[in-house]
Amino acid sequence: MLFSKKTLVFKIFWVLLFFSVHCLAATHHHFEVVEAPYTRLCSKKKILTVNGQFPGPALHVHHGDTIYVTVHNKGRYNITIHWHGVKLTGYPWSDGPEYITQCPIQPGGKFRQKIIFSTEEGTMWWHAHSDWSRATVHGPIIVYPKINGAGYPFSKPHVEVPIVLGQWWKKDVMDVLQEAIISGGDPKISDALTINGQPGDLYPCSKSETFKLNVDQGKSYLLRIVNAALNNILFFSIANHNLTVIGIDGSYTKPLTSDYITIAAGQTIDAVLHANQDLNHYYMASRVFTSNPSVSFDNTTSTAIVQYNGNYTISSSPSSPQLPYYNDTDAAYSFLSSLRSLADEEHPVRVPINITNRIVSTLSINALPCLGNRSCEGPNGTILAASMNNITFVNPSIDILEAYYNHIHGVFGADFPSFPPLVFNFTAEYLPLILEVSKRGTEVRMLPFNSAVEVIFQGTNVVANIDHPMHLHGYSFYIVGWGHGNFDKDKDPKKYNLIDPPFRNTVTVPGNGWTTIRFEATNPGVWFMHCHFDRHLVWGMETVFIVQDGAGARLSPPPPDMPPC
Ligand code: C2O
Ligand code: CU
Repeated sequence: MLFSKKTLVFKIFWVLLFFSVHCLAATHHHFEVVEAPYTRLCSKKKILTVNGQFPGPALHVHHGDTIYVTVHNKGRYNITIHWHGVKLTGYPWSDGPEYITQCPIQPGGKFRQKIIFSTEEGTMWWHAHSDWSRATVHGPIIVYPKINGAGYPFSKPHVEVPIVLGQWWKKDVMDVLQEAIISGGDPKISDALTINGQPGDLYPCSKSETFKLNVDQGKSYLLRIVNAALNNILFFSIANHNLTVIGIDGSYTKPLTSDYITIAAGQTIDAVLHANQDLNHYYMASRVFTSNPSVSFDNTTSTAIVQYNGNYTISSSPSSPQLPYYNDTDAAYSFLSSLRSLADEEHPVRVPINITNRIVSTLSINALPCLGNRSCEGPNGTILAASMNNITFVNPSIDILEAYYNHIHGVFGADFPSFPPLVFNFTAEYLPLILEVSKRGTEVRMLPFNSAVEVIFQGTNVVANIDHPMHLHGYSFYIVGWGHGNFDKDKDPKKYNLIDPPFRNTVTVPGNGWTTIRFEATNPGVWFMHCHFDRHLVWGMETVFIVQDGAGARLSPPPPDMPPC
């Protein structure tokens, strides 16, 4: 009797040990940032990766989890990692943008990041947030429904597949960035677009490695699509098949069936593919959308293959999808404006109605004078820059979060303007050259806790109009309206969707157009707001929102291992 009790206790001990080890494995991850050799387009180079993988490893969590990721920098460059779309309520310390919420992790350094999930559901992603390292340092984040919860608000797919869209340069991306900074001109365009790290059949030396998705006829597949490209909005489509979008940027939507999608840099889309066609091979393909093709862009097409399982004769080459044309603005924006929040009982919509803090901000490309006796390669020998409300953001030397938390003065100003300092016909065909010059500065915007915030982004035709995917950290926001041309404060608000607008963390503002977003400032902290085209980010198209503490919601203290400045 005593003996068997002992055995039982012993067994329970082992069972407990097994489960605790198992849980640890699921909640604690190691990201080793290392260089690894990769060959694409017939040429080999070393790229920065997480754990040697490109695209990087997927993080799998359940709704409302908290996990830890220890980032160990074994590379040659300073690095930070950001969890794009994760709200990290009250805890911006793990958010990642360099000189905004932390100083970078130096070569050899480590940082244990705590990632607090709350309302996010579906697909998001993580990526480096320092220089251009995110070109290869990125991967998906997949949030499953709560264990023993209600499950998906759509029928459970047979298989889930990440589809990570990217961009590839034959050159070292850090060199591409450095050359652009030194010359003041536009960075060299990429040599290929990629699907799950592969350019596909239309590029040299790529065919054997093309990504292939094997499907069973009659089954459905949940594609977890991430646009990890540095500088592009993309169209994506699968020959002979429709996609049913059921989620965007980590929140579920009303189902939207379409034969193509538009996805901007930074955005994610959950879409169901029904394998309901004849047994065969079909191309999926992706290429750029730009409303201003006079700004140079990578006009190549990346492909992957959907191949049905079974015995059949394959047609000589897979059929290709009809992608909208590069500058098909109607196709791009009609897809984006057809998206709707799910807006059901479990996914309520709370659009702020009585706005307490309204910000109107221009988004401009600028051209600054070339100083000294160097030659600059921006338009007419200038240096390219970018701005919000005519301020080209300059990174401080210690991070804004640390300065704010420790009341260190002189690091940033709190004067980001609520209105464009110069009012002109923003989208006029010809604009005076004087408008091309922005001011450099480090200005943030303070927001009281619980304020109802509205931001109206106004694209301009200064230097060149182009679409801007604007991203806010720490929040998702409702996209209540958009349009081409100048925002009209009397007419346009009447057309706002306050019932079921899409809820995203990254919104495409049309070049020469406007977009209005709204959110409730319920997440205290220091939150970056910027264009998700990395070349515009480097040029200064960004600002910071500091949401102050409120009753019951406070900024948490920092962890002990914040990387030193
Ligand atoms: Cu996806 Cu500030 O980033
Ligand atoms: Cu931009």
